[in-house]
Amino acid sequence: MSTGKLKHSEIKTENDSDKLLVEKVFSHKQEHVFRWWNDLTINGQKNLLNQLRLVDFTLLQCLTEKHIKGNKLTSPEAATLEPPDIIPIPQNDSQKARSDEAGKIGEDAIGAGTVAVVTVAGGLGTRLGANRPKGTLPISPIMGKSIFQLHAEKIHAIMNKYDTVIPWYIMTSLNNDEMTRSFFEENRFFGLNTDNVSFFTQGVLPVMDLQGKLLMDSKNSIVTSPNGHGGTLLALKERGILSNMNQRGIKHIFYHQIDNILIKIADPVYLGYHIREGAKMSPKVVPKADPEEKVGIVGIKDGHLDTIEYSELSNEEKHALNPDGTLKFGMGNPAIYLLDVDFVEKINESHFALPYHKAVKKVPCVDENGCKTKPSENNAAKFEMFIFDALKHAGKSIIMEVVREDEFSPVKNAEGKDSPDTAKQSMINMFGRWLQEAGIEIPKDEAGNVKGTIEISPLYALDAKELKKKIDHEIVFTGELNLQ
Ligand code: UD1
Repeated sequence: MSTGKLKHSEIKTENDSDKLLVEKVFSHKQEHVFRWWNDLTINGQKNLLNQLRLVDFTLLQCLTEKHIKGNKLTSPEAATLEPPDIIPIPQNDSQKARSDEAGKIGEDAIGAGTVAVVTVAGGLGTRLGANRPKGTLPISPIMGKSIFQLHAEKIHAIMNKYDTVIPWYIMTSLNNDEMTRSFFEENRFFGLNTDNVSFFTQGVLPVMDLQGKLLMDSKNSIVTSPNGHGGTLLALKERGILSNMNQRGIKHIFYHQIDNILIKIADPVYLGYHIREGAKMSPKVVPKADPEEKVGIVGIKDGHLDTIEYSELSNEEKHALNPDGTLKFGMGNPAIYLLDVDFVEKINESHFALPYHKAVKKVPCVDENGCKTKPSENNAAKFEMFIFDALKHAGKSIIMEVVREDEFSPVKNAEGKDSPDTAKQSMINMFGRWLQEAGIEIPKDEAGNVKGTIEISPLYALDAKELKKKIDHEIVFTGELNLQ
């Protein structure tokens, strides 16, 4: 039976290094993790010590002081916020010419094999309620292809188009790494060469209760959680991905989140602007759907380019208008970035220091009696780094606005807004617009949605221009069209 509080001399360990570890845990006042020590098997004890060995207790102490004990040093009122300069969606001839020029620079970079794709897929997809990696969700409107397959086909199509190689690096977390790898193996990497697809896991951090104590997942393990997509930059270095990129001559990383099914992978125009301006980290932006939409906004905060989360914007800022009636802070963050490899190297050179953000959540854990419980109230603080906190270190960035309907439709929830249903509809509507541009009549309902179902594989056409060249212009749409 559990003896409750043990003294550290009562925790019998096998060697000096374990002894030191136990002392460290006690000195950081986390000794409750040993509550069931005497009930554990040797393997159980080893498991607990192995997990504790990976914990950065000094970091946890800083996080507790700053975020849990309420020692808030910054005052949000002190920050200034201004909209940034943005490369607009081309409207006139000169803007179109600039965009075409940029496109050529980007195409050259792709053709030269200097571009890689990093997809972050380490999240737990808790809002979606699916007990599997988000990328495995069947999503295409007719074939039911997974999100991973759609991204894979886009990468494949771009490689074919430019006769080049685009290595694809997928960030997973310990929670979904095995499932993700098996999914790719079962699907034979969707036709991609296995040499060009790599998986790397992001780091984890322990989850604490609201008093700063480590939460227990079982009698011999603590609760951990992925360290946020900001952890990508650290993991790229620590897991050897940057060296792999350097060996392959990669200079630019196209970064995106797994959940955006309209992602325009390695967009040459965006790449071209980024390269021409010598930028180091560049975000794309899309107009917010409405002032209350739960997306971050891109702005200049205290003189630095930044992304401000929806939860951190005041009501006044959310609703502020420009003289022409558009939203002042209306440029939403679809979480698409270009990052140069040398910039990611540089960020990792000195002590890696993206800030941690706290999220208070309901996290299942073991109670005092050793039973796993699901809390009904928030009981835990999780800490995550956000990739956009690197923006202020970039020195030079370009910010490019893109057509939201063509490039941003995330899958976040099981139903309603930003769900698999809205994602499918947004794909169908985009394919409908491509077909219309090719001169094919597509009926729509009052809401503007295509009446019917369309699927176009990226391997058939990557965009409206390619479709126009390829499609039989005599086709009559009768409610379903599947082009593979
Ligand atoms: C995120 C952005 C928000 C943006 C929106 C666009 C944050 C804090 N906010 O919101 O500004 O407007 O996307 O869709 O990011 N992920 C990992 N590892 C982690 C955490 C997340 O790989 O540790 C990945 C997830 O798999 C997912 C993505 O990051 O692909 C987004 O994470 P999520 O927590 O869902 O962020 P949002 O609240 O949707």
